[in-house]
Amino acid sequence: MTQHKSNPVPDPITSANSNSIRYRGVSANILDAIGDTPLLEIEGIFVKLEFLNPSGSIKARIAHYMIERAEQRGLLRPGDTIVEATSGNTGNALAMVAAVKGYRMLVVMPEGLSSERVAISRAFGAEVLFCGDFHVDQALQRARGIGEQPGYFCPSQFESESNIEENRVVLGAEILAQLPPGRLPDALVLGVGTGGTLIGVGQAFREVNPAVRLFAMEPTESQTILCGEIAGHAIEGISDGFVPGIFQRNSALVDEMTSVSSVAAVAEMKRLARKFGLLCGPSSGAHLLAAHQVRQRYPELQTVVTIFCDDGEKYLSEHFSGRSADSSFVFA
Ligand SMILES: Cc1ncc(COP(=O)(O)O)c(C=O)c1O
Repeated sequence: MTQHKSNPVPDPITSANSNSIRYRGVSANILDAIGDTPLLEIEGIFVKLEFLNPSGSIKARIAHYMIERAEQRGLLRPGDTIVEATSGNTGNALAMVAAVKGYRMLVVMPEGLSSERVAISRAFGAEVLFCGDFHVDQALQRARGIGEQPGYFCPSQFESESNIEENRVVLGAEILAQLPPGRLPDALVLGVGTGGTLIGVGQAFREVNPAVRLFAMEPTESQTILCGEIAGHAIEGISDGFVPGIFQRNSALVDEMTSVSSVAAVAEMKRLARKFGLLCGPSSGAHLLAAHQVRQRYPELQTVVTIFCDDGEKYLSEHFSGRSADSSFVFA
């Protein structure tokens, strides 16, 4: 593994004048803390730590972006209610943005997902409407219907061009700027929720390396894009039970499908916490495993990029509440 410099503990005397302060001056609100996340190299894979965003996931980016675009276009006005279908993270993120900007928020989500995500949306003042079980398709119809009523705005993350645009213009550009000098991405490996991240970041990567290969990862138990299969799985945030519009419109950009089982994803998620101090969700474990598969299958792809999308604290009750559950801690 290449050794990269880590920031030393700041010297208390000199740090007040240091040039390394991330935010200059006083921020207007928490939305200022979205983005600008670290890129790590873990076992030869470049990993963007998006779980560090406020509200605990990558979705803070598109939530903020889609809402500001809608405001600019006059689609969202003071006093309106934002309504969105989500498996949870986008609901958390939109609820945070709505709280800051003074909108009401209605999160439409299926039952059977991590209870923390429901609690987080409510903590931000959102109302949560349950619709369907585990998969998001029924919630999608419901949110769309409510969004058509006067006084409501539905960002439609599964369809939205603003979703793709944020990922191309902001997140994709950020990763390219963080890669070591002279390195261009050879591959991007990601699960598909809306497909916005894979397609948008993929477009940004294609602009600098037309040969970059895009790999879409699905849970082995529910390979909806590959073969229309819809089943339960533990990799929350992806494979929501249908092929999203963004992916359908842009599927020609994607080179290959790959899959990781829920059991392997959860075990890898636990290893990430114990070995690297990275408390992330199951899709992060799945992403690292899928990226390793790609490197093994195609050793010529040297610069492989993936993303750790959401925070492990959202899964404490599901996966981390057992006392040192299956930790392989050894007293040395
Ligand atoms: C938890 C989580 N959130 C979000 C995403 C990105 O999803 P999208 O396809 O909606 O951009 C992923 C992708 O793997 C994910 O695992």
